[in-house]
Amino acid sequence: MIYYILIPFISYFCGAVPFSYLLVKGIKGVDIRDVGSGNVGATNAGRVLGKWGFIGAFLLDMSKAFIPLFIFLNYLPINNTLILVSAVCIIIGHTYTVFLRFKGGKGVATGVGIFLALSPLNLFIALIVFLVVIGAFRMVSLGSVTAAITLAVLVWLRTDWLGLQLFTTLVVLFVIFKHRSNIRRIIEGKESKIGEKVG
Ligand code: G3P
Repeated sequence: MIYYILIPFISYFCGAVPFSYLLVKGIKGVDIRDVGSGNVGATNAGRVLGKWGFIGAFLLDMSKAFIPLFIFLNYLPINNTLILVSAVCIIIGHTYTVFLRFKGGKGVATGVGIFLALSPLNLFIALIVFLVVIGAFRMVSLGSVTAAITLAVLVWLRTDWLGLQLFTTLVVLFVIFKHRSNIRRIIEGKESKIGEKVG
């Protein structure tokens, strides 16, 4: 029973650690919310810190989701519903972090960590779509949204866990919602591309 209190609590605070903010602040002394897209995420960290900043922020945001979920899945006697509750709390922690007045990221790297634990093969296929779209259009946001939609389709087609299917659909709708300003810029032809200088 204690798990029903502890797991959501631990999950939220794992997700809430704003690694992109901490890396950019620690290395450049800059507030990531004041540069580029203003998003507290790996793409924006990369705009300030370069390729290795992106990779570092991405891996850290991914790990803060993957590590707790992996431990809960494999080492605690809890059911699948509580696993999904944990995943929801991790993503809410990331996107509405208490440490930055509830202004967090868009949930992509954290989502990757979640699906690496819950549905790795579907994630792998979606990542290929992500890389193909980025290679073609050089916009991380377009790759993220396309890969997220692909992931939802794959989970519905290739699994029979209704909870995971509903969870994935909700996460994907949420990721699209968090990318609404990117989608607007893509339509207007104003979305920043990989390699462009930040203002
Ligand atoms: O993961 C977020 C990415 O898809 C877009 O980030 O900074 O371009 O809004 P950004």
